[in-house]
Amino acid sequence: MQFLLSALSMVSVSLLQGLASDTPEQLLGKMTLEEKIGQMNLYASEWDLTGPPPTEGSNADKYEHIRTGKVGGVLNVTGADAARRMQQLAVEGSRLGIPLLFGYDVIHGYRTSFPIPLGESSSWNLELMEQTARISAIEATAAGINWVYSPMIDTFRDPRWGRVMEGSGEDPFLTSKIAAAKVRGYQGTDLSRPDTLAACAKHFAGYGFPVAGRDYNTTILDGRTLHNIILPPFKAAVDAGVRSVMNSFNLIDGIPATAHAGLQRDLLKGKWKFDGFVVSDWASIAEIAVHGAASDLRQAAQRAILAGSDMDMESFAYVTHLAGLVEEGLVSEAWIDDAVLRILRVKTELGLFDDPYRYIDATREREALLRPAHLDLALDAAIQSIVLLKNATNLLPLDKDAGKIALIGALADDKDSPLGNWRGMAIENSAVSVVEGFRNLGVDFTWTKGVKLAMNPGKMADLVNVNTTDRSGFEEAIRLARESEVVVMVLGELGHQTGEGRSRADIGLPGLQQELLEAVHAVNPNIVLVLMNGRPLIIPWAAENVPAILTAWHGGSRAGDAIARVIFGLENPSGKLTMSWPGSIGQIPVYYNHDRTGRPDANPSVFWSHYNDESNEPLYPFGHGLSYTSFGYSELQVTPSGPRTIDVAVRVSNLGQRSGTEVVQLYLTDPVAQAVRPVKELKGFARVTLAPGASTVQRFRLTKSDLGYFLPDGSFTFEPGEFILTVGPTGTLSQQVSVSD
Ligand code: GLC
Repeated sequence: MQFLLSALSMVSVSLLQGLASDTPEQLLGKMTLEEKIGQMNLYASEWDLTGPPPTEGSNADKYEHIRTGKVGGVLNVTGADAARRMQQLAVEGSRLGIPLLFGYDVIHGYRTSFPIPLGESSSWNLELMEQTARISAIEATAAGINWVYSPMIDTFRDPRWGRVMEGSGEDPFLTSKIAAAKVRGYQGTDLSRPDTLAACAKHFAGYGFPVAGRDYNTTILDGRTLHNIILPPFKAAVDAGVRSVMNSFNLIDGIPATAHAGLQRDLLKGKWKFDGFVVSDWASIAEIAVHGAASDLRQAAQRAILAGSDMDMESFAYVTHLAGLVEEGLVSEAWIDDAVLRILRVKTELGLFDDPYRYIDATREREALLRPAHLDLALDAAIQSIVLLKNATNLLPLDKDAGKIALIGALADDKDSPLGNWRGMAIENSAVSVVEGFRNLGVDFTWTKGVKLAMNPGKMADLVNVNTTDRSGFEEAIRLARESEVVVMVLGELGHQTGEGRSRADIGLPGLQQELLEAVHAVNPNIVLVLMNGRPLIIPWAAENVPAILTAWHGGSRAGDAIARVIFGLENPSGKLTMSWPGSIGQIPVYYNHDRTGRPDANPSVFWSHYNDESNEPLYPFGHGLSYTSFGYSELQVTPSGPRTIDVAVRVSNLGQRSGTEVVQLYLTDPVAQAVRPVKELKGFARVTLAPGASTVQRFRLTKSDLGYFLPDGSFTFEPGEFILTVGPTGTLSQQVSVSD
């Protein structure tokens, strides 16, 4: 066997050397139809199921298919040794020896865990978010990964949807900037470098708008929302050079995105000139039939390839049916060629034909993961992700020496939940807990869980039996609280209570946490509530009764240190919400860039747009976040500086006693338009760090692409006239200006 393998390797190396000098077109010319279709076939390893177990055709011998050139890539293979074995099978076993892609969901880190994207986006720090993607790529490529299913750039408005943890919030402008930063971070400037990899913009498109926030539910999208809210981040990712796009499970106007030629061929590959490849989401090709848009897997395969889905993840549709469809003249081989060229082009750019083992280096894997510098960045990212929601009595920051401190909460000692969902290859229970963070600062405190969040926390939310009966820890918690000056409570969600397949209808504090909070408050109202969460949580009682509240999200490997440093004032929080925080479930969806409606204004009658029992406004709005200092805005200047151009300048001052970072936000209002525009839209932002008493002038320039918008049919328009510019954390200064064509 050894002789055979070494003989094979000689043959394949020479073949590969031949291939390495081939252009994708030349290589395509050497391929049989079956080999071409093989490149369009993407299997998951058995390491990690990230979708429902496959059905029809899934009894395929995946290793035999790899050895015979019927596989173009494998996902969820982690570790250099495993990847090497699989790559050898493809390169040395198959006729042409075309190397595999190795894909993985690196969403917020590979081994070093950064805050979940919804948390990290609250930093509004593009350089930071590019850097965390860069580090994620350095670690993932050391372990054999050359393709990540990231960034997830869906916009969304419903925190019942479990996957809000995975994205960057409700705003298309901010998400677009983050999308480009992430693509740059993952792909670098040279895709052939061993520490860069192909990124994948997902999920194209509209997955973030499931009706009622129920994952995989249908969507009801109008053209305005699709073209102005959902698609811009994908265009930004394409403009940033993203090499792959993953389609989505949902319908658009009754057509599954995976079968939507208008979306994938006409817009993405046509108008936007995207020259990478489209990969289906897990079994989304097979699900074309489940949706009822095809009669069987064969017809689903036909619709998918005709609509521009180039690679089939775990549907077994292409490998089973494409050859027959071509032979029967139902699918032109030209579509196959187009798909295969796109895939080969990315493999060439990755340098896989020069060296298929370039990304597989066990030595580098041992050295590159969890480097101290990576963990330092994780701390920085966690700190900048924290959003101070309320600090009514300036209870925060705490003084370590100002009396007895009690730390209470189900998540206070949790070393796993901060890793969140989609945690990649982070080691279970490896995060710094809040208890450890307090200890690392030398804080003198007592602590108790007070309540278990779940009876037997498991990896999948459906295995988490939320504790609704065991109050045995309450007494100790109440005793500690009674004896202390101040109580820090760490409550929220387990790491796997958000994420894919984790939509919740009730997004209050799970289990008995609210009851514990009120019981503690009854004996000591001096509470700092630290939320550890993957989504905005419904906390009206806390918002009313608790003096200080911050969200630390699922903050990653160094979460506990970040929380401790912010609570005790070593760091000044600067995070701002990127998703509106509802006051009640009944408000959902509530979002900042909403329409004015025809009856926006309160009047003595009931005939205006409102609830009789709830505010129209979220509990905490998009862009909200407090600081331990305060900032002032003055000297706003809004100047039309040419056709379709506006220059804005505003002075930002630190009015407080300590340094701080403010996220200056610029919003545009177009009060009259052919298709009405939202009450305001984010069109610029900047992080400014100021010493006490210092100030700076922040400048913005808006041009036609900022002032115009997409009509429901997707055509872009600019309408000269009056515009209103507003600046500030959530709009403090405004000025109207007239702009010519
Ligand atoms: C999942 C997700 C997608 C992920 C893929 C592979 O179903 O929808 O985001 O990249 O399958 O794990």
